[in-house]
Amino acid sequence: TNAKMVVDKDFKVSEIDPRIYGSFIEHLGRAVYGGIYEPGHPESDDSGFRKDVLELVKELQVPIVRYPGGNMVSAYNWEDGVGPKDERPNRLELAWRSIENNQVGTNEFMDWAGKAGTDVMMAVNLGTRGIDAARNLLEYTNYPGGTYYSDLRRKHGYEEPHNIKTWCLGNEMDGPWQLGGKTAEEYGRLAYETAKAMKLVDPEIELVSCGSSSSDMPTFPQWEATTLEHTYEYADYVSLHQYYTNYENDTANFLAQSLEMDRFISTVVSTCDYIKAKKRSRKTINLSFDEWNVWFHSTQTDQQNEPWQIAPPLLEDVYTFEDAVLVGSLLHTLLKHSDRVKMACMAQLVNVIAPIMTDNAGQVWKQTIFYPYYYTSVYGRGIALNPVVHSPKYDSKDFTDVPYLDTSVVYNEEKEELVVFATNRHLENTLKVDCDIRSFEGFGVTEHVVLEHDDPKAVNTVGEEQVKPHHNGKSFMEDGHLQGILPKMSWNMIRLH
Ligand code: AHR
Repeated sequence: TNAKMVVDKDFKVSEIDPRIYGSFIEHLGRAVYGGIYEPGHPESDDSGFRKDVLELVKELQVPIVRYPGGNMVSAYNWEDGVGPKDERPNRLELAWRSIENNQVGTNEFMDWAGKAGTDVMMAVNLGTRGIDAARNLLEYTNYPGGTYYSDLRRKHGYEEPHNIKTWCLGNEMDGPWQLGGKTAEEYGRLAYETAKAMKLVDPEIELVSCGSSSSDMPTFPQWEATTLEHTYEYADYVSLHQYYTNYENDTANFLAQSLEMDRFISTVVSTCDYIKAKKRSRKTINLSFDEWNVWFHSTQTDQQNEPWQIAPPLLEDVYTFEDAVLVGSLLHTLLKHSDRVKMACMAQLVNVIAPIMTDNAGQVWKQTIFYPYYYTSVYGRGIALNPVVHSPKYDSKDFTDVPYLDTSVVYNEEKEELVVFATNRHLENTLKVDCDIRSFEGFGVTEHVVLEHDDPKAVNTVGEEQVKPHHNGKSFMEDGHLQGILPKMSWNMIRLH
């Protein structure tokens, strides 16, 4: 099977905002307790943060982490998580029906983020709370001192403000499962008034208005239109969330789901621009795809979970090789839309639907999905290019005209490096790609990383990494064209210099 592409320096999508390689830590399951934080563990530092986990987070070069939820934030009292640890309350955490002991809160998380070298995207509770809690939290985190909440922060040992720049106005407020869920009108009004107050406290912040919880929501995309009518003046981004599943065990159809992500993004872009036109505005709203991943392996087990435990194992999907291939395609899709998608968060980062896992015996390992995320984050920096692609196509249960070749291309001017990320969706055949790289004269292949496996269901468990990339890709240059050799059902990164 053969495909063709043309890559040119002048075919620019956009400068890539590194924050599209963001992730997410929620107070959910073992993400915080037993994930990033485990005092007494031999690998933990003086603050109780696991150094082995931090190392892997740093390896991924995660630029921003969303926190503290997720569904959890919609009934969260931020005040519970600050001040002396022995005075912090145990609470019923209603979103996941667990006990939250609040041993980690805003300040600890900011410390952790500093150690991980990442920024924080903080969410405020617009479910059970509203304007007041949000403006107080912002005063606590961002105001230098001399006021009630900024002085409270100083009293808690944090002399300098955290200066958190990016804030989510609630989480999935369209979802019937959300604590304090709202209609679009109700949310739009509350988000507008909260945003107004927050920008008065700190005009430097950026705000994310809640979009739909998924493109399957019955209120999509009217939710975006109605809420943005309210929040347009203050919002900088609108959020998108989507999780992908393979309940029917149909690999060809599963791997095509990045087309759904593509359609979702295009619809949200159109809706933002429709409101822009309606408002005669000069401002453009960008997209924050701040929850995306594969999530379905653990849903059945989680239904048997006993409520009211501290840090129970929840949403612990064990990812397969085919999940990693789709994750690679989802990353291509974000890059292709990097002119409007400026932030995105793989949900989540540790233990909960995550690339990084720990167990109770204190080990840590990489799930299959770690790899496409790692390579795209580390090497996908610079300018996203828009290649012209001619690929044979297939039809699957839910999709027609699915190209076997899925690709994204990044030019890193600083390093004089061209990076071709490429997925072969064909389940049986190698895909040969003739790639004209006409404006990159003299470039040669420096590395071809391949993620492949004979078994689509192969997984990585502690001590047994079945799925990991090799560096023996067979691509080469011929007459100024890159000849990309993509093994059947594989994800690839070809670097040229
Ligand atoms: O990431 C898991 C959950 O998925 C989040 O808490 C919620 O926002 C979404 O429904």
